This record gives sequence, structure tokens and C-alpha cells, in this order.
Amino acid sequence: MTERLTLWRNARLATCDAAMRVIEDGALLTRGPLIEWVGPASELPAAAGEATETHDLRGAWVTPGLIDCHTHLVFAGTRASEYAQRLRGVSYEEIARRGGGILSTVRAVRQASDSQLFDESVPRLQALLREGVTTVEIKSGYGLTLEDEARMLRVARALGRSFPVTVKTTLLAAHTLPPEYAGRADEYVDTICREWLPALHAEGLVDAVDVFCETIGFDLAQSERLFDAAQKLGLPVKIHAEQLTRMGGALMAARRGALSCDHLEQATAEDAAALAASGTVAVLLPVAFHCLATERKPPIAALRAAGTCMAVASDCNPGSAPGASLLLAMSMATRLFGLTEQEVLAGVTRNAARALGLQGERGVLAAGMAADFAIWDIETIDELGYWIGLNRCRAVVQAGRMANRGAHDD
Ligand code: NIG
Ligand code: FE
Repeated sequence: MTERLTLWRNARLATCDAAMRVIEDGALLTRGPLIEWVGPASELPAAAGEATETHDLRGAWVTPGLIDCHTHLVFAGTRASEYAQRLRGVSYEEIARRGGGILSTVRAVRQASDSQLFDESVPRLQALLREGVTTVEIKSGYGLTLEDEARMLRVARALGRSFPVTVKTTLLAAHTLPPEYAGRADEYVDTICREWLPALHAEGLVDAVDVFCETIGFDLAQSERLFDAAQKLGLPVKIHAEQLTRMGGALMAARRGALSCDHLEQATAEDAAALAASGTVAVLLPVAFHCLATERKPPIAALRAAGTCMAVASDCNPGSAPGASLLLAMSMATRLFGLTEQEVLAGVTRNAARALGLQGERGVLAAGMAADFAIWDIETIDELGYWIGLNRCRAVVQAGRMANRGAHDD
């Protein structure tokens, strides 16, 4: 059976293609889960007459479905009391050294049942979906045993089956050293490389591998060993690097052809140039920057000058970025980091797709791409990163189907 042809007309299209082309009075044709045609209404192909369904979008803006390319949204509990300590001047690192921080959430996740973990994660995912997100990356990293990491990844996959969203999973077993391995970080890394990674990969739970390269995480040599093990299995790699300390993670990630290098507050122009040369995406996480009251900003001017591909993500997690709003991250990326509105839009669409290895598949309104898009009740596209706490997403189309209607749709 041929797949359903649907016409979406009377739209203003922010295509997010390489030229960031905008089409006023645009239209889209989707066939099943894919976009078949995009362009000005005046050039609609004759095939549009065969559409079995037509939606008049009444002049709304349409963007590719947003892509949140860095989240830790599967977790249990909160760390509100640690946030309160941080407000009183105790640093994130100090809390971690006292056995709190990521390890607080590890304790909560280990105690939570699978259904609790799923149920607690749902509101966070739904918050993102209401904001036009159709693809989300979810990391493990709060289990830190083989079974608990597997549980986190299975919950992430289950969320993807239960909601209109594409979930990409990332194994972040190297998030922090679990207490069982105190003083034996190298042994822990070896266990991940030799046992956990192959087992989780064999179960189809791992789309990419990440590491927290930091004084309170893992050092450069350990990070590279993880990259070795992942790449031997053909898995793409990512890294949390140069967030609190410049450890050399960005240069190593560039050398190893990582998909993305995330945070980068302490990065330099040399790092920016290396990332640009390797095509590694710089993922900027302004909510974590804000909540940790980090002093130094990522070197945006150097990243721009080098031509580094920049993405923006929510970093949704219970410690450094409590909450689940990609729109807020977009607002912060302009105001706090100085990205342009266009850079931010590219950062949550085409460049975010690239950070997940999904370029050519999603993140752009073009023929052959996934029919994932968000429909916005806004007058100008710049309103996307402008409103704070006001969500103008009218509806979301995922895999060609109207998936998530906002409250003000008729
Ligand atoms: O991206 N830095 C490591 N990972 C998270 C924080 C996780 C946590 O504090 O629970 C981040 O900021
Ligand atoms: Fe993170």
C-alpha cells in the first residue's frame, strides 16, 4: 500500500537548511513519515492534488521538530537541597567531593523501580515535547552498575516507544566513580570497556558513548580509553569537556572525530579550531552555566571565527540544570552567550541533528527528511528565543502525524 500523502499549506517555513532559507507562503507535502516536497505554495507540484489530507496552518511558522541533543532526563528524585547549598556558596565540585552531586542521584536511581524511573521522567519529556521537541538524546550515568545503567537505557527506549519522539540513547557510565570502585578508577574504566559496553551494545541499548572528562569525573587518558572501546564497536563518541577545568578533552575529541564536545566554558581558540577542523559539534549548555554560576563563558567568538558547528541543548538533569526547557536554553544562549537568533535556531535543529549523527535524516525541512516539524503561533521567527515561560508551540507533527496539539489550537 502506498503511504498517506498529506498537504500542509499556508505556512511560513524556517527550513534550517545550510542557507537557513525562509519561505513565506510555503507548503509541505509529507508521505508517511517523510517529507516529500517543501517550497513556495506557488510551486506546489501537481501531485499535491492527490493528497488525502490537507491542513491549513493559517500563516503559522513551521520549523523542523526541535532536537534536544544533550539531556540526562531519566533520573529519580531531586537535588533541591544541594541547589540550596550552592546558593549559599558551596561549589558543585565541593558537593561532589563530599559524596553528593551525581552520587546523590545514583543512590536515588538504584533504589527506584523501573516504573518509578519511567514515571518520574515522563513530565520532563512531556515538557520538552510541548515545546516542539521531536528528537531527544537521553544519557545514562546515574546507575553506575551494569544492571542499573541497563535499566536507565531501557527506560529511555521505553519512553521513545510510548511518546511521539525519537530517542537516541547515550551510555555515560563514566559519569563519576561509583563508591564500589573508590580508588580504582582505571579498573572501573576497564570494566566499562571490556564488559558493560559490549553487553549493553549487544542488547541494542547504546547509540553513542559519552564521558565526563573532569577533575571530579575521568581524566584524559581514561576518556580516550573509553573512546577506543566505543570506536572498536563502531559506536560514535561524545564528551563532557572543558566545563569546570580545561583537561584537554576538546582536543582529544577532535582528534578522535567525536560527534560532539559539550559544555566548553573553559575552552580556548585552539580547541575551537580543532573542533571546527574535525567537524565535531560544540554543544552549548547555557542552563548549566547559569545554574552553576560559572564565571567563564564558552569562547563563542572563537568558535564562530573558526566555523565550528554550534548546537544548544537543555542539559536537563537534577544537578546542574534542573528543569526541562529547550526554549529557555535558547533564550539563554542568545542573552548569556551572545549567539545570534539564527545560530540558536540552527543549534536546535540542523546542528543538533549533527551532534547525534542524524544529519541528512532530520533537523531540516527538505525532501527526504523525517516529517517532524513544529508549528508556532508567532509573528516573527525571532520570537522563538524571545519569550520566557510562554510557549507558543501550537502543535507538533512527528513522523508525518499531528502528534501534540497545544492548548490554543482549534
Ligand atoms: O551535563 N557534568 C556532568 N553531567 C551533568 C550534570 C549531572 C549532574 O549534576 O547530575 C551536566 O552538567
Ligand atoms: Fe551533561
